[in-house]
Amino acid sequence: MSQPLRLGVAGLGTVGTGLLNLLQAHRDRLAHIVGREIAVTGVSARTRAKKRAASFGDAAWFDDPRKLAADKSIDVFVELMGGDEGAAREAVETALAAGKHVVTANKALLARHGTEIARMAEANRVALGFEAAVAGGIPVIKALRESLASNSIRRVYGILNGTCNYILTKMQEELRAFDDVLKEAQEKGFAETDPTFDIDGFDTAHKLALLTSLAFGTRVAFDEIDIEGIRSITQADIEAAGDLGYRIKLLGVALRTESGIEQRVHPAMVPQHSAIAEVSGVTNCVAIDGDFVGNLLLVGPGAGAKATASAVMSDIVDIARGGGLPRPFLVPAAALVLYERAKLGQHQGAYYVRLAVFDRPGAMAGIAGRMGERSVSLESIVQRRPKGAQIGINARLKPGAPTPVILITHETTEEAIRGALDAIQSDGNVSEAPQMIRIEPL
Ligand SMILES: NC(=O)c1ccc[n+]([C@@H]2O[C@H](COP(=O)([O-])OP(=O)(O)OC[C@H]3O[C@@H](n4cnc5c(N)ncnc54)[C@H](OP(=O)(O)O)[C@@H]3O)[C@@H](O)[C@H]2O)c1
Repeated sequence: MSQPLRLGVAGLGTVGTGLLNLLQAHRDRLAHIVGREIAVTGVSARTRAKKRAASFGDAAWFDDPRKLAADKSIDVFVELMGGDEGAAREAVETALAAGKHVVTANKALLARHGTEIARMAEANRVALGFEAAVAGGIPVIKALRESLASNSIRRVYGILNGTCNYILTKMQEELRAFDDVLKEAQEKGFAETDPTFDIDGFDTAHKLALLTSLAFGTRVAFDEIDIEGIRSITQADIEAAGDLGYRIKLLGVALRTESGIEQRVHPAMVPQHSAIAEVSGVTNCVAIDGDFVGNLLLVGPGAGAKATASAVMSDIVDIARGGGLPRPFLVPAAALVLYERAKLGQHQGAYYVRLAVFDRPGAMAGIAGRMGERSVSLESIVQRRPKGAQIGINARLKPGAPTPVILITHETTEEAIRGALDAIQSDGNVSEAPQMIRIEPL
């Protein structure tokens, strides 16, 4: 057997201890597959005395992950700390400069600095593996970088955040309000105490930024993503979506258009019987439309100690096997083209709109007129009875009280629908800001 592959693991939390447990459970199997032993020779975390979910045996302890990154005793630096700056960035850059391979699960870091970090890896002739950074256990990075490398990709999209999908699934299945489900998710440990990162769409956007680069050969452009989270989704939207044959999902979508690339994160209506609508709870999925392969849907666990460790390990196995170094973003980092954003407002699609319309003469005519001025044609208009009416109580509205009205538009541009909704709101025929959700064609 060849020399062991020596790992330095920085971060011994959920993913780090998951990796240690995987290495322990499959030590012999891994050695058999790659033809050499894979050993953890150094570890680092913030607090040495902390009780851990895995043992790191006789690996040397480093208080400072940067020291571990540069240490002679390791061949691969495995960064599992998190954060887009500070220790994680410095340690990764230190490791690359010292000629160590790097494996990381850190989407925040790569979404911000991925292009430069990939350049550094290539310049130092070492690997940069980040399979675990997108959709946890789903092998989507390798799918795009290797299996689908010959395809021209038209679109890549998916459900990339388990917390949001859990909340939306619960709201739909148990007819519960957003705040109520979020609280439960926090109590069960599915959502962070500060859930902003997840529910406001940033975590999805980090992952999308990496998928976009791999799919379209562009520099990582996290700042170019239009991001909208799920806070504004109400039970009324979930119910209306169900009645109309849709489900609401938080999607990350990257699409090649004639005017450039669209990168967006937002709640979207997807047909109830589509495969993506069936992806429920904390499960993730990634759909890829390639010109030769057709449409693929990869579904699986997007997070968790075991699934994420499995993805981290897949990069380590590649390194242990040796052979050619894969370019982190498929093409050389210096050849990644400048990201060109599709023209603002030109997104084409159908929309769901929910309005709280004052029950007074001319209100609906005024609304239809505003839509007509911008050539937005309507596929359907449904005046929903107040919630109580559906269960047979309090069926009548007070005269003048707002009535929920649901509109489904034919295909139009975002610019047109937003303009129409702004005008409708200024006219004073609605009691609150209109709700608008894109209907994603699948
Ligand atoms: N959790 C998942 O399911 C999942 C899935 C995909 C990707 N990821 C990514 O994987 C990475 C790790 O996530 P996680 O959930 O495992 O996080 P975590 O449970 O919070 O663990 C983070 C670990 O990093 C250590 N750490 C933090 N700052 C450090 C510093 N300055 N110096 C040394 N050690 C430091 C912590 O040390 P102490 O333990 O001593 O505090 C802890 O062991 C993140 O980039 C995350 O986005 C996670």
